[in-house]
Amino acid sequence: MKQAETIDRMTTDNNLGSYEEAYETFDWKEAEKAFSWYRTGKVNAAHEAIDRHTETERRDQVALHYSDPNRKESYTFQQMRDQSNRFGNVLKKIGIQKGERVFIFMPRTPELYFSFLGILKVGAIVGPLFEAFMEGAVRDRLEDSEAVALVTTPQLLERVPVDELPALKHIILVGSTGELTGGYYHFEKEMAAASTELAIEWMDREDPMIIHYTSGSTGKPKGVLHVHNAMIQHYQTGKWVLDLQKDDIYWCTADPGWVTGTSYGIFAPWLNGVTNVIRGGRFSPQDWYQTLEENRVTVWYSAPTAFRMLMGAGADLVKKYDLSRVRHILSVGEPLNPEVVRWGLDAFNRRIHDNWWMTETGGILISNYPQMVMKPGSMGRPFPGVKAAIIDDAGNELPPYRMGNLAIRTPWPSMMRAIWKNEAKYNEYFRIPGWYVSGDSAYRDEDGYFWFQGRIDDVINTSGERVGPFEVESKLVEHPAVAEAGVIGKPDPVRGEIIKAFISLRKGYEASDELKEEIRVFVKEGLAAHAAPREIDFKDKLPKTRSGKIMRRVLKAWELDLPTGDLSTMED
Ligand code: WT7
Repeated sequence: MKQAETIDRMTTDNNLGSYEEAYETFDWKEAEKAFSWYRTGKVNAAHEAIDRHTETERRDQVALHYSDPNRKESYTFQQMRDQSNRFGNVLKKIGIQKGERVFIFMPRTPELYFSFLGILKVGAIVGPLFEAFMEGAVRDRLEDSEAVALVTTPQLLERVPVDELPALKHIILVGSTGELTGGYYHFEKEMAAASTELAIEWMDREDPMIIHYTSGSTGKPKGVLHVHNAMIQHYQTGKWVLDLQKDDIYWCTADPGWVTGTSYGIFAPWLNGVTNVIRGGRFSPQDWYQTLEENRVTVWYSAPTAFRMLMGAGADLVKKYDLSRVRHILSVGEPLNPEVVRWGLDAFNRRIHDNWWMTETGGILISNYPQMVMKPGSMGRPFPGVKAAIIDDAGNELPPYRMGNLAIRTPWPSMMRAIWKNEAKYNEYFRIPGWYVSGDSAYRDEDGYFWFQGRIDDVINTSGERVGPFEVESKLVEHPAVAEAGVIGKPDPVRGEIIKAFISLRKGYEASDELKEEIRVFVKEGLAAHAAPREIDFKDKLPKTRSGKIMRRVLKAWELDLPTGDLSTMED
């Protein structure tokens, strides 16, 4: 085995000390002591993230630095407390009950964050939706969760099929100038009339808190449910992985529509009482470097695709900005190429710390820590209090360098507690007693570092966004020209993977570039831009099993010129 290259430890003042020692001694019970509730058992994550700090010297510290091309606003912890209390009162007035689902379908704005916290404060379950979702994706999620209320904007409301969602009774519109009646409310008017004092709903640790929908290889998106107890993990990983310390200014580039944008874009920074930077609007290298410079960001959490795009924009651009405040950089969501780590050392004079987790795990489980020697290309080592292993399908732990299922010993504080209304799907993850089976394959080296190898199922990871091939295929066959469709992830140097669709056409349709484009736009407008196939191939026939299932594995082998493997189940 070739000796992996290593990069030396960083120095840091966080209290992890030596990773090896912490791994031996740490107990999650220690993390609970940061909060007062561990004695009473009653908790509310929004209180712990925001209100708690208003009783300390952090009260007038900035909690949120928001900017987009048209707005620039800052809010202290006290102001965040007041605004989220107001929103909690708006929901109470409407009659929202503990445990009901309240969704947010909004671009990143301060109002999104006030709403998010207010929903938690009244004990409802928050469901954040990515603003780029189109009608089909929005409907699936609101339908499955039976959301009773939605916070959105007049523009995005056009993509909400309100009449087809019987459970959805209340719509709170941000930025509406029209006359609103019958279940529709003006966010601004209601907020102005609401009190800043709220009787917060005190929750049990195991009470539901948030649903994130995510994709698998079959079926519609799954509603991954997390409980208030997850905050223990958000807090402690914030401390030891994000290395959050007093006076830090932190920027997580993820949207709250994805789990990184909530666990690490909301909870981890605020539970640790640091200033959180939120940048709205679109990605551009100039804009991102400016955001880092202007806000004097010290800790920066982003994703491989973004780093690769920054790399593509060149090192000269980096030199135009003063990024000297940036002391810690992290990455998640897809494999972080060693080349990108080397570029980071060169461009920022900083290591980019890879870490691994999933929507289902709720928080970071495997990571590179500042005080750890880094091996570029490795996701790092398990968090103290977490046991990770490579196991075979029977549950046997495999020795170093043997590839197998990446699995985690159950439980850990932020482990999902359910797949919404789908116990069978939930149980699949725990089919091997004592383990959570991630669906990723990996190996471990002799020093206990984990190396990602791929997905075991057909799930596609494009620009760090998880796309289920089945969802895309289902949308494709809704197009009148499409008879059948098979969708795969094709390796791509910038996006990790791109979506490629193989399509057989219905009788009477001719293959053409115009038709390809029409089909692409159809998925983009029906589902989401990131789910639209970048490449389409027309085929007379798709490879199928005798039972009629499209064999994506064969499509992939064709595409990549690989051996097709066992074809015994394929129809002639
Ligand atoms: C899947 C989870 C929670 C982070 C955002 C993505 C892949 C995640 C890494 C990494 C290689 C990674 C895995 C995982 N993934 N981190 N450091 N290296 N692959 O959350 O949408 O639930 O996707 O993303 O395949 O299973 P997600």
